[in-house]
Parts: sequence; structure tokens; C-alpha cells
Amino acid sequence: MTIKNETWAPASLAAQAMGHIDGTTGALIPPIHAATTFQRDPDNEYRTGFVYSRLGSPTYQAAEELLTALEGGVETLLFASGTAAATAVVMALRPGDHLIAPTVMYWSLRKWLLGPATEWGVEVELVDMTDLDAVARAVRPGRTKLIWVETPSNPLWRVTDIAAVAKLAHQAGAKLAVDSTCASPVLSRPLDHGADIVMHSATKYLNGHSDVLAGTLTTSHKDDFWQRICAVRAQSGGVIGPFEAWLLQRGMRTLFLRVREASASAGSIARHFRHHPKLAEVLYPGLPDHPDHAIASRQMQGGFGGMLSIRLAGADDVALRAAIACAAKVRLWKRATSLGGVESLIEHRASIEGVGSPVPPGLLRLSVGIESCDDLIADLDAALAS
Ligand SMILES: Cc1ncc(COP(=O)(O)O)c(C=O)c1O
Repeated sequence: MTIKNETWAPASLAAQAMGHIDGTTGALIPPIHAATTFQRDPDNEYRTGFVYSRLGSPTYQAAEELLTALEGGVETLLFASGTAAATAVVMALRPGDHLIAPTVMYWSLRKWLLGPATEWGVEVELVDMTDLDAVARAVRPGRTKLIWVETPSNPLWRVTDIAAVAKLAHQAGAKLAVDSTCASPVLSRPLDHGADIVMHSATKYLNGHSDVLAGTLTTSHKDDFWQRICAVRAQSGGVIGPFEAWLLQRGMRTLFLRVREASASAGSIARHFRHHPKLAEVLYPGLPDHPDHAIASRQMQGGFGGMLSIRLAGADDVALRAAIACAAKVRLWKRATSLGGVESLIEHRASIEGVGSPVPPGLLRLSVGIESCDDLIADLDAALAS
């Protein structure tokens, strides 16, 4: 039994997983329904709404309802990964449809768009999403069916004006989908700014403990396009398992605490290192001289996120060696990919993205966790000094 109380703040809804109390036992924690199949009523109906877990499960529903409330949407679908969620949106398009996506974005999705999605017949055009004139020029009324935005975007942390791009998309009859993984609903709610769909790699902040792979889509309206996305999930089968869905709703209970702490520490780290002599640049939208600081201040509430990047000084080959050497010296930061967990991660981004990566060779991406901020600063200071 879930109690819906529209007056509770999102932080309260998250802490109590929508105020769940089990109708049979009084348990405050929702159960895990491992069932893949559900009994049909004698009159041949399925009154519970559950048939087969590829189509939906009560355990997905607990996390889905919470995320719908946090994002201010009308329905959420959980997927097996952020990638399964993102690709489901594109698979709901038809061959010949035109899609606009950012030049710099989560690299693996960019690769998929330029590879399999293009081969399948979607016409993919990459533009600088922070240049609204370029986006306006790329839009083809009647043919552009989807604009994909990631904000703040990996790993340069540029911020896209969601309301402005939503206007351009809607004027052309296109949908706007926003990958809001790095902001989380704590700091930004893209649907409030006019987006049609918000996507998360729930592997990151939503779960927050680096132990679940999951993805989500939340819609602002249940229209034909959303029904096509629902059909993609049901028919291509990229669903999450019930244990992972349960862990995800548990992780989301502390979402607000984790994101606020990570965001405050990331701000302190960015300010501490911004004039460091071994660095060419600190990339963080919370810094007043960041090119998108004004948009980020309007669009994000309560912080600028837990992600930042530092660029080591020097020519490309010098900066590359210095970045790898710095990552080798840290002790508290962990050298690993991914982001949004409680432990802080440092990553030489160009190494994982490989050939064709638009990322500067001397860039280290930092995902700030919830350790002592002083310890994180001291560890990075020592690594840069050696
Ligand atoms: C911004 C962003 N979007 C999407 C994804 C893909 O999510 P997943 O790894 O859960 O498939 C990632 C993963 O790193 C990401 O950082």
C-alpha cells in the first residue's frame, strides 16, 4: 500500500519510498516480488494489472512511482541499464526520422547513435547543444522527431538551456528527451522546464552505491510516442530484475542527502583547485566563470552537482602523462569509471573513450562521493604535488 500525499516535499517522498506501508504485514519496507508470472482471474481478466514480469512487476512499481513523483512526471519505466532506457527512446523512432544530439555527450551512447541507430535508418545529427542558433539551424520541421540533451554533459560539464531547446523542439513537432543522470531530480527537474522525457542512468546517483545497473525514463504525458517506448521495453525485453529494482528504491531513500553532500564537496574542490599551478582548467558549472554558470544557476536548484573535471597543464602529450601520473598517485580517490556513488572516483577519460574521443588528453574526471571533503582535497593536492 502506497500513501500518496501531494503536499510532501520530494525529500520526504524519497526518504519514505512514497510512504509505503505493506497492506498485509504493516512492514515499512516494500517486499521483493520475485514472481515472473501472475494468476489470471477465473473470468479471464488480469485485475491486478500484472501478467508477466517483462511487462511490469509490483517491485518495479515501487521505484517507478517514487521517480515519477520526484521528476514531476506522469509515468516512469525502469530498464536494465541507462543504456537500455536511452536506446528505447531512439528505437521508438522510425527509419528516416531525424534526431539531433550533442557533440559531446556520454561517449558510449554517442557511439551507438552514430553506429547501429544510424545503420537502422535514424538520421543522427550532432550539434553543440549550448549554441541555440546551431540547434535552431539543425532542426528540420516535420522531419526532426527527437532532440536529445545531456545536462550537465559528460565530461566537460556544459549546461544546456532545457526550456530554450524544448521550445525549438516543440515548434518543429519534435520531442525533447533529457539525460539528467548527472543532475538527478534533487538539483534539476527537466520536465518542469518543458522536456517531454527525462532519462537517468540509475546506476549512478539514483542508486548511489555502485552495486546496481539500472535505467529510467519518466514522461510528462502518456502519448503515442510514450506508448511506443512502453512497447519497446515489453517487446525487446530490456527490463530490470526485481532484486535490482528493490535495491534501487532503497538507494533512492538517501538520494537527497547523498547528492547535497557530493554537490557541496564538489563546489569546495572546484574552488580549491581552480588556480592550482599544475592545472590548465577546472570544469565545474558552479564556478562563476564557467561559460554556462548563468543557465546552471537558473536551471539547477541547491547545487551544481557532484561531477567536475580538471585539465592538467601543458601540451597534449605532457598533459596526458601528467594526468595519468596524478591518477596513479591518489589513495583515497579510486581509479575507476562510472559516477554518482558514495565513493569518490577519478578517471582519465580519454583512455576509456578511445579513438575519436573529443575529450582533451589531459582531462581527469572526478565523481565526488560523500567522504570528508578535506580528505579528498588533501589526497588530490598530494597527488598533484608529487
Ligand atoms: C550521463 C550518462 N548517461 C547514460 C549512461 C549509461 O548508463 P548505464 O551505464 O547504466 O547503461 C551513463 C553511464 O556512464 C552516463 O554517465
